[in-house]
Amino acid sequence: MARTILIINGPNLNLLGRREPGLYGAKTLDDVEKECRKTAAGLGLEVDFRQSNHEGELIGWIQDAHQRSAGIIINPAAYSHTSIGIHDALRALDLPVIEVHISNIFARERYRHHSHVSAVANGVICGLGSAGYTLALNALNELI
Ligand code: DQA
Repeated sequence: MARTILIINGPNLNLLGRREPGLYGAKTLDDVEKECRKTAAGLGLEVDFRQSNHEGELIGWIQDAHQRSAGIIINPAAYSHTSIGIHDALRALDLPVIEVHISNIFARERYRHHSHVSAVANGVICGLGSAGYTLALNALNELI
């Protein structure tokens, strides 16, 4: 049975491509999904790629992941900096987690320097653009 990686994207990432392209690049979320599927296929992984603007929906997906996923890649977007709920859901899950940020959150506003998710992630990739997602897939492939 193929191992499935759940890739979760938080609020406003549906706007990729037209949202501050100087910061987040010109690729759309569909482009990122295609790149992830290509990389995953080469690694013998399946990808379940999702986006939501709603914190509760993201938490529900994390809670359900143990039944259907081998690991999680999450870009929690703005909820990285605010959500104890997402932190707690990931903490309750016994699966490897990689946190991804397209931009370098440490080179931006102070309120982005702390992520509640980092403490419950196996690793964090930030500032490498959308390549962070495929790097995370390679890293997860080693962890699972
Ligand atoms: C982001 C960084 C966050 O600070 C921001 O709120 C986002 C995107 C990134 O991928 O660089 O929406 O997670």
